[in-house]
Amino acid sequence: MALSWKDKVMRNFDTQAHLYDQYGDVQAHVADSLACDLPCLKNAAILETGCGTGFLTAQLARKYAGHQLHITDVSPRMLEQTKSRFSGMSTRFFILDAEKEQTGETYDLITASMVCQWFEDLEEGLDNLKSMLKPDGTFYFSLPGPDCFKEWRSTLDQLGLPSGMPNFSYSEGIYREEKIKKSCRDSWAFLSSLKNMGASCGRENYAPLTLPQIKKACAAFDSQNFEHVTWHILYGCITKA
Ligand SMILES: C[S@@+](CC[C@H](N)C(=O)[O-])C[C@H]1O[C@@H](n2cnc3c(N)ncnc32)[C@H](O)[C@@H]1O
Repeated sequence: MALSWKDKVMRNFDTQAHLYDQYGDVQAHVADSLACDLPCLKNAAILETGCGTGFLTAQLARKYAGHQLHITDVSPRMLEQTKSRFSGMSTRFFILDAEKEQTGETYDLITASMVCQWFEDLEEGLDNLKSMLKPDGTFYFSLPGPDCFKEWRSTLDQLGLPSGMPNFSYSEGIYREEKIKKSCRDSWAFLSSLKNMGASCGRENYAPLTLPQIKKACAAFDSQNFEHVTWHILYGCITKA
């Protein structure tokens, strides 16, 4: 049976979990940056969704030591990596599809660093997360913005080729943004780093480029000597109300 888009997203992250840290330097930076914005809380119940290998988990464990932490991901191997690094009397680790599933509990704080762009239906996923907030709870997140990978997108545009990257446009609750220029030797280094970290699933119903089209796009990208690719990151906070 053909895999659904969501299953492919999960499979890609799951298969590449062992390489994620090696290629996830932008994600590590974003997790640290998001953690600086998180509120001070007392005896809080906290849910982390899409923990990956634990970049944000490390910050949560430090900032909220002794609080009730529920650390989750849809990928078993990602979750296993995080679980092997952190443990604590008040920490629970479990599989959760944050877009569709509920834990049966409510939280003072829910976090998702670089996760929600992988939801099939962003609005539905955010509603699901909001419904798990306590009345005065907050949901903090980061996700790619519209200018993310603009060098690659503009190259495809110039050639009249479609981009399989999700349409990163989202505005609710965004309180700041950041543009990170990640150095990149060439198109191959850029594309393979996304693939190696598991973030290579084209948007739903996207017909992948043919090999000649990819070669043409890579040659056009490389001829522009970009030296870096822009990661445009949005930081957001939503309350239940
Ligand atoms: C780009 S990684 C980010 C991981 C981590 N938060 C970080 O900042 O490094 C995306 C993570 O979200 C997870 N993910 C994707 N869709 C998900 C969903 N519907 N529910 C929960 N986790 C999901 C993936 O398995 C992966 O671990």
